[in-house]
Amino acid sequence: MAHAIRFHQTGGPEVLQWETVDVGAPGAGEVTVRHHAIGLNYIDTYHRSGLYPMPLPSGLGIEGAGVVEAVGEGVTDFAPGDRVAYAGGPLGAYSEVRNLPAHRVVKLPAGLSFEQGAAMMLQGLTAQYLLRRTYRVQPGDTVLIHAAAGGVGLIACQWAKALGATVIGTVGSDAKAELARAHGCDHPIVYTREKFAERVREITGGAGLPVVYDSIGKDTFMDSLRCLRPLGMMVLFGAASGPVPPFDLGLLNTMGSLYVTRPGIAAYTAKREDLVAMANELFEVVESGKVRIEINQRYALRDAAQAHSDLEARRTTGSTILLP
Ligand SMILES: NC(=O)c1ccc[n+]([C@@H]2O[C@H](COP(=O)([O-])OP(=O)(O)OC[C@H]3O[C@@H](n4cnc5c(N)ncnc54)[C@H](OP(=O)(O)O)[C@@H]3O)[C@@H](O)[C@H]2O)c1
Repeated sequence: MAHAIRFHQTGGPEVLQWETVDVGAPGAGEVTVRHHAIGLNYIDTYHRSGLYPMPLPSGLGIEGAGVVEAVGEGVTDFAPGDRVAYAGGPLGAYSEVRNLPAHRVVKLPAGLSFEQGAAMMLQGLTAQYLLRRTYRVQPGDTVLIHAAAGGVGLIACQWAKALGATVIGTVGSDAKAELARAHGCDHPIVYTREKFAERVREITGGAGLPVVYDSIGKDTFMDSLRCLRPLGMMVLFGAASGPVPPFDLGLLNTMGSLYVTRPGIAAYTAKREDLVAMANELFEVVESGKVRIEINQRYALRDAAQAHSDLEARRTTGSTILLP
């Protein structure tokens, strides 16, 4: 028997319950992982609130790091004792121990801690595909990254800077602006006070940007489009302020033949070889020191509800982990 956070109905953080669960032996193709640390991600709040509907009751969480305790039939890549990390796959990371498909798991390099692994897999792999694949950042590009002091934000700012970009970032406070600046953001904009589209036009001398990475959604989407140069790419990858309402595609023409994409990590990591290549690139930028994983909040796993409250109230910066 083990403990896990589960929920039986959607709603606020109070629906999260600390329960006893029977994990059982791993099924065919699965590994049993004992978590040393678990990643907290904004998507966990979408699952909990019902924005992304899931069958209930359900576990929660899609990111963790720990040690393999057992392997199911047909698993040849992993053995008990392996240090591993993962992002994605079935919900259930908010647990002391769990089973999950081996094809979602990668070995954690010896130079990286469990805490780093749990903090960076989802946010770091997201930064990887956004900057390296969705719109491949080139030296000399100027890019806009929203929520620059957040989990994905701090990683993406550092990585974009290392790729030779000039980084503009939006943040919710002056303290977050300083934090973003210390992590590669050349031009932090406090978007709760300043009109970010106007500031972007000023910073780029009216030219606009080749790409905007927007994880805020409803509150920023239209102004993000206004930041783009002709043929620019709007990458809408989250909805921290709520989903973007239906939208007239004709605007993309009148605003300069813009592109819009709404990517998710699942499609980018669906093939095992892609997941492994992306993870290797992430591990390399972290081990080289180009990207630091800032774990600015730690909570006991059983206090996951408090962690959700703090994340949704914009009280966190960088990455957050839950400790079993
Ligand atoms: N599509 C994908 O593959 C993928 C993968 C991972 C994450 N994401 C998305 O990326 C975003 C960042 O995820 P994260 O885990 O790193 O979270 P995070 O950025 O650490 O936290 C969310 C941040 O959004 C900002 N925000 C702006 N308006 C907000 C509002 N109305 N309510 C709450 N927060 C608001 C806050 O920063 P300020 O106070 O500075 O505004 C807050 O700290 C999320 O939207 C998430 O869904 C997408």
